[in-house]
Amino acid sequence: MKEAQDVWTAVDEYFNKLLIPTNASLSATLADSATAEMPAHNVAPNQGKLLQLLIQIQQAQNVLEIGTLGGYSTIWLAEALPKNGRIISLEVDSARAEVARLNVERAGLSDKVEIRVGKAANILPQLQAEGYGPFDFIFIDADKPNNPVYLDWSLRLSRKGTLIFADNVVRDGAVIDPESRDANVREVQQFAELISKEPRLSATTVQTVGEKGYDGFLLARVIS
Ligand code: SAH
Ligand code: DHB
Ligand code: MG
Repeated sequence: MKEAQDVWTAVDEYFNKLLIPTNASLSATLADSATAEMPAHNVAPNQGKLLQLLIQIQQAQNVLEIGTLGGYSTIWLAEALPKNGRIISLEVDSARAEVARLNVERAGLSDKVEIRVGKAANILPQLQAEGYGPFDFIFIDADKPNNPVYLDWSLRLSRKGTLIFADNVVRDGAVIDPESRDANVREVQQFAELISKEPRLSATTVQTVGEKGYDGFLLARVIS
């Protein structure tokens, strides 16, 4: 019998081949990210497509992404935006941001995408001071221990109806270990507790399996 991971990967391949046309700029983005020795922490293609569909369902025009890496998810998000749509993406690593800028440029999306270099926790207050927001869609996908900080700023930079999508909240099920010493896991637990006590948010999580293993996401909507 095949290992579960092999089946998950094969099922992703089966559906992706049918539903997700190959996209040269996205493939080149992954290739150049690998050449630059970035970790393969980009979303999977079917997750990128889900982000795209959510952007379109939401009719989002202003998008905030926290965690750019090589710009793979940025391109998925930007491609879903209308002509006047904009995305600002935050990345702490300037070399990664530079690769991402080149990837975005090759995809013909430079006029829609702004990539800012620095710690997101420092940039977010600057964005507010500069008059950015409210954002229609916020993708949280950076250093997981800061997710509570990112949630706080997401709320400040949102409006009623804003969608907040947080990646990687399940991590092989580690989230249920109450004694975990992994900062990534403790954060997810704290993040979920914060959201549970936040009357301005309505939220759910979905566990996922696929080519990226077993993980999941949290989707929240600002309701007041
Ligand atoms: N969203 C990307 C993957 C992001 S991986 C995609 O799906 O394609 C997470 C990224 O967050 C990494 O590139 C990492 O350098 C960045 N990061 C880590 N800590 C950060 C911080 N404090 N502020 C901003 N970015 C950070
Ligand atoms: C990690 C981060 C991610 O954003 C991701 O999608 C997968 C893994 C990580 O830090 O291990
Ligand atoms: Mg992620």
